[in-house]
Amino acid sequence: MRPTDRSDPAPTTGPDGIPDGLARAVAAAPEDFYDDLVTGLARARADLPADEATFFNRPMGERELVEWLCFQAWYEQQAAIFIGGWLARTPEDDAFTLLARQIRDEARHYQLLMRALDRRGISSLDRWRPEPEWQEWVVGWYPSGDDTLERVAAHNITGEIGARDAMLAVSPRLPVDVAGAVARILPDEEFHLRLGATIVRRYCVTDEARQRVAARVRHTFELEQAGRAAYNRRMARLGLADDPAPASV
Ligand SMILES: [Fe+2]
Ligand SMILES: [Fe+2]
Repeated sequence: MRPTDRSDPAPTTGPDGIPDGLARAVAAAPEDFYDDLVTGLARARADLPADEATFFNRPMGERELVEWLCFQAWYEQQAAIFIGGWLARTPEDDAFTLLARQIRDEARHYQLLMRALDRRGISSLDRWRPEPEWQEWVVGWYPSGDDTLERVAAHNITGEIGARDAMLAVSPRLPVDVAGAVARILPDEEFHLRLGATIVRRYCVTDEARQRVAARVRHTFELEQAGRAAYNRRMARLGLADDPAPASV
């Protein structure tokens, strides 16, 4: 491994505005590229103000639980749809097979979350509307990308880490039935993370590819932050943002 002093006090961004850890990833030795990308994302998230670092900065009542379930079910449904759209443009046999399995997983996650909504009297998302930032992030950005590497860099690195961490953060605040659904989903999300790591380590082998992958990771992080701000704005509009976060959340 390339020796790296993780204790260095580092600026959040470099002179070009690239989060410091992501810029380091591009400059890293090839064998360290994926690990440095993930470390850079963790640093960028750790540098965020507390109210921007999580969706879950207030106690979750039943109404917000339904809002969160709708968002999460929609996100899972969209993941199955856009990864399905990738397959016709995935020439790598190993990536094709792994991504096909991921589609099945995301569809099952959608089903598990819709069952939780159904228990609360909501049988479809037909009357639920995503925020414009979520559309740009999930419907506009994730399906895009010139090749498998670019698509996986956005969703299976930044997106899956963000989704996994958000589920872990919210789990203690969920009722038993929803926490049970999330517990069934999380191992799959870990598999999707490993899938992304495998593809990046196997195919991201040139400086040019590393630049493209880091740029996709960086922009996904920006869209994710805009998505989180939109979530909090929506909760405020619904009158669900009045309680400040307890220090322990
Ligand atoms: Fe999922
Ligand atoms: Fe996933």
